Amino acid sequence: MKIRQFGDTGLFITPITFGAWEIGGQPFYKDMPEYDSIALITEAFELGINFFDTAPVYGFGQSERVLGKAIKRFRDKVVISTKCGLRWKDNSLAAIYKDASKKSILQEIDDSRKRLDTDVIDLYLVHWPDVNTPIGQTIETLETIRDQGKIKYYGLSNFSTQQIDQAALYGSISALQSPYSMLNLKIENSELPYCIDNRIGVQAYSPLHRGVLTDKTIDQLRDSAEPAINWILDSMTEQQGRKVLGLKEISRHYGCPFASFVTAWTIASPGITTAIIGTTKPQHIREAVAAASIVLSADDTLAVRNIIGGS
Ligand SMILES: NC(=O)c1ccc[n+]([C@@H]2O[C@H](COP(=O)([O-])OP(=O)(O)OC[C@H]3O[C@@H](n4cnc5c(N)ncnc54)[C@H](OP(=O)(O)O)[C@@H]3O)[C@@H](O)[C@H]2O)c1
Repeated sequence: MKIRQFGDTGLFITPITFGAWEIGGQPFYKDMPEYDSIALITEAFELGINFFDTAPVYGFGQSERVLGKAIKRFRDKVVISTKCGLRWKDNSLAAIYKDASKKSILQEIDDSRKRLDTDVIDLYLVHWPDVNTPIGQTIETLETIRDQGKIKYYGLSNFSTQQIDQAALYGSISALQSPYSMLNLKIENSELPYCIDNRIGVQAYSPLHRGVLTDKTIDQLRDSAEPAINWILDSMTEQQGRKVLGLKEISRHYGCPFASFVTAWTIASPGITTAIIGTTKPQHIREAVAAASIVLSADDTLAVRNIIGGS
């Protein structure tokens, strides 16, 4: 896979990132045997993926712990992004709350380094805006831990352009992690052009719209009964369903799984540095890696745009 520079940082990453939310298990997904998660991450690395995204809240520490164990042998060859600012009072969905204060981040960074079994986090993101903490306090704390050598770069996740601009008054923002897919183009209006102009690396999350933009049927997705998938299905519209059918028609020109076609489109989209693919299955990691070799024709790119709308 061709390596890309992440924004204007010294990080060089693959256009496909392994998303480690799914392997974290409860309360968002079904628990997965640790052995299988480690085998999956190892396979992702062996297939050429060098970027791994996780967060403390994924499985309440489980995702970070397993990722740390899995990459131990090849830590110096991979880039890790993890996050701060989402805490939990007990191990239930209802107990999750936002806290991006100095006190919280100073605690969280050491907890993440310990769980990931690594001295330095390559990229550290504020998971969600925290309206109860002045953004200056959050960014100044990130500057401090960067100067202490605990992180290399930091960025923001789920922030609007206005919020990024405000944060940038206090330090150097290197990354934006946001939802982006053929069914969710919102960041094209403002955040993507802003990141291009300011050389901020963009990690597109939910590029497969949590499984909707794959060969899985809606019934199969519903049967999985996983909360994170049901949230997306509950917000699906009939118009989105029609778009998926049209996109599947175009994907047939490439003789590949629909997910590979969708991923190929995502990583070719202007401003997108990498697509984070979440999966629990080796076959789906292979389909993600295969996407890096697929080039959509100009006609098909236009045909996709005619279906999905946007810019
Ligand atoms: N910053 C944030 O707030 C935020 C929010 C959400 C996600 N993320 C990050 O982004 C990553 C990915 O996002 P996501 O999990 O929301 O969505 P996604 O990658 O769009 O979709 C994940 C779902 O698609 C399925 N899938 C993957 N490849 C497939 C294939 N080739 N064929 C059929 N199904 C396939 C997976 O099921 P299988 O297990 O069956 O493959 C999984 O349920 C996460 O792991 C996480 O690292 C960040």
